[in-house]
Amino acid sequence: MDFKACYNNYINTVNTALIVNMPPRDAYPSRIHEAMHYSLFAGGKRLRPVLCLASFELFDSMTAKVLPVACALELIHTYSLIHDDLPCMDDDDFRRGMPTCHKKFGEAIAVLAGDALLTEAFAMASSIGNTGYSATIISMLAAASGSTGLIGGQVMDLLSEDKPIDVELLEYIHRHKTGKLISVSVESGAVCAGADSTALSALTKYGEALGLAFQISDDILDVIGDAEKLGKNVGQDAKLNKATYPSLYGLEESKKKLHETVEQALISLQGFGKKSGFLCELARYVAYRDR
Ligand code: IPE
Ligand code: IPE
Ligand code: MG
Ligand code: MG
Ligand code: MG
Repeated sequence: MDFKACYNNYINTVNTALIVNMPPRDAYPSRIHEAMHYSLFAGGKRLRPVLCLASFELFDSMTAKVLPVACALELIHTYSLIHDDLPCMDDDDFRRGMPTCHKKFGEAIAVLAGDALLTEAFAMASSIGNTGYSATIISMLAAASGSTGLIGGQVMDLLSEDKPIDVELLEYIHRHKTGKLISVSVESGAVCAGADSTALSALTKYGEALGLAFQISDDILDVIGDAEKLGKNVGQDAKLNKATYPSLYGLEESKKKLHETVEQALISLQGFGKKSGFLCELARYVAYRDR
């Protein structure tokens, strides 16, 4: 199967599991469930659950075992997007090709939809059945999402608007606001499959490099990307004077750094040989995507 077909297969698997496991759109009180479904099923790339499934499959083919974790990752990601778009944060009007959650449902419901998705994520992660890894996974997800993970990165992203920043702070922001959830996606798949510590540490390196590459690419796309394809407005970072790779290094140097970071991700996979073909392709896709 070629890369695109394989990626689409994973997306279908995740979407089906999300529909089955989420409270239905019309569950009482329907206003909150409509808002959760609106943002969740708006057609994201599903990168984080796909990473989790592909990493799991390096060691085990019984994908059903890890699906609740893959779903939990997408719920956490979607919550982070809803809150990231709020007027008190990045104040964005479009996401995944549609008006942002607060534009459609109002700020209060958008805040609550984010809260509910995050909470639901942990309920889902606790349902991984008899693999025995549930508590480990839940604590990994909490660490990646909390104040020393994704939230920490978001805080420093906001506090750095309109300020001169240095390389260390920029890396901190990117490795936390985006990198932590991406690396835990790779790690959680491997943990659920019982990977040994050597494999796990190689995958951690891959996930960390991929997470940084993903955000460098997101920064670049905000400068040269196409809003239609991206499903979100461009030029938002310059407008808010955000700490980004292009703002610190310029466009050409940012592309070089992106290339180097992807190479690091690829090197980390060398020990897995042919089985890591999909994860290699995925790293290239993440770096050189247009959406
Ligand atoms: C956007 O993430 C937010 C960042 C972390 C940069 P994605 O580009 O993965 O968004 P979706 O899930 O495809 O909408
Ligand atoms: C978002 O980073 C990171 C999280 C949502 C945690 P950005 O603010 O750069 O993402 P976009 O560009 O709005 O998608
Ligand atoms: Mg932001
Ligand atoms: Mg944003
Ligand atoms: Mg961005």
